[in-house]
Amino acid sequence: MTIANNGYMSGFGNEFATEAVAGALPVGRNSPQRVAHGLYAEQLSGTAFTAPRHANRRSWLYRIRPAAMHGHFSLLSPAPASKQAFHNDFGDGPVTPDQLRWNPLPIPAESTDFIDGLYTMGGNGSAAAQHGIGIHLYAANRDMQGRYFYDADGELLIVPQQGRLHIETELGVLDVEPQEIAVIPRGVRFRVALPDGVARGYVCENFGAFMRIPDLGPIGSNGLANPRDFLTPNATYEDVEGDFELIAKFQGHLWRADIGHSPLDVVAWHGNHVPYKYDLRKFNTIGSISFDHPDPSIFLVLTSPSDSPGVGNMDFVIFGPRMLVAQDTFRPPWFHRNIASEFMGLIHGAYDAKSDGFVPGGGSLHNCMTGHGPDAATFEKASVSDTTKADAIQDTMAFMFESRNVIRPAQQAIDAAHRQRDYQHCWDGLRKHFDPAKP
Ligand SMILES: [Fe+2]
Repeated sequence: MTIANNGYMSGFGNEFATEAVAGALPVGRNSPQRVAHGLYAEQLSGTAFTAPRHANRRSWLYRIRPAAMHGHFSLLSPAPASKQAFHNDFGDGPVTPDQLRWNPLPIPAESTDFIDGLYTMGGNGSAAAQHGIGIHLYAANRDMQGRYFYDADGELLIVPQQGRLHIETELGVLDVEPQEIAVIPRGVRFRVALPDGVARGYVCENFGAFMRIPDLGPIGSNGLANPRDFLTPNATYEDVEGDFELIAKFQGHLWRADIGHSPLDVVAWHGNHVPYKYDLRKFNTIGSISFDHPDPSIFLVLTSPSDSPGVGNMDFVIFGPRMLVAQDTFRPPWFHRNIASEFMGLIHGAYDAKSDGFVPGGGSLHNCMTGHGPDAATFEKASVSDTTKADAIQDTMAFMFESRNVIRPAQQAIDAAHRQRDYQHCWDGLRKHFDPAKP
């Protein structure tokens, strides 16, 4: 059983209003004495009540039953060995400064839904501190059946790599495919179905301030991710009763409670604490038309600001199709070290700084001040390419979750069979070219 998609509204951070039954949305009141059609009014606040207006997020939900109605929560345990790898235990011991890289997370052999298929790669900060991120992968092969989920610890940025997701949320349905992203706000309940039978991808769990599109400064009023390309679903609902399960991610652990009805019973809502989707192929990529590269911050799609101006708790950056035209310039991403820490993934195609080993569904982690850059084969090729002609970088979509704080790999990610233990050797072939006699 799934809920049909009811279409989308366009915009970012807008005050939306939508109703699945005519007249369900109160007019001139948020909480009238009696809501039409016998609905309950409930506010869902994603920011402090008193947050400044531009940074304030909340929605009013008009629903069949209030969210308070469910059984006691108990810890979801004991966990099967192959599951329940979704957590926020990033360890507190030594953390390796090595460059790290992984092959794709295998699609599970046993029946696994989206929640059971979540696998933590690492992170920093905590839900308790309300800053930092958790970085997870998912690999699943069945719909969530009779169970619903919400994450009280952070908003979820879902980046599908293989297979579409049909995400039914309290506020409406998001259908996303690889090269699109979905964002589920903190606390919003949802269920995931897999129209293609299997699905794999990446999730950034953001414990900090909600993500937003960046200011554009001298770029002007257009460019990068344009607000009108963000889509928020129209209200739709299911009115069903049964023996269901509500799973909560709360303070790093999963909990379960019985629930006798579907929590996807919001008939109308208005507000700006909303789920949304965005097609990464609509990103307006900006770059140099003379020489050199701008910093990769030019590829910023969404940012979760920290308390320090200009410093992201988390930045979501993409490396999509683009023309490279900078002359007398080493065109691939350069060698560098960064105070920020970078988890990269590849959604589609090939990445222009790595000739092999970084494959769709895989990932890499380069932490604070860890040197990285193009592999030897890419360096040799790009050093002699003709930069009087343009290079078309096509058929690619890589991304980065970048964080101001070190991303601590989870122990299971360090121990994983799919970690490439020889990754550092991709730089072994970089030869010494230095000759003081040669200009
Ligand atoms: Fe980097």
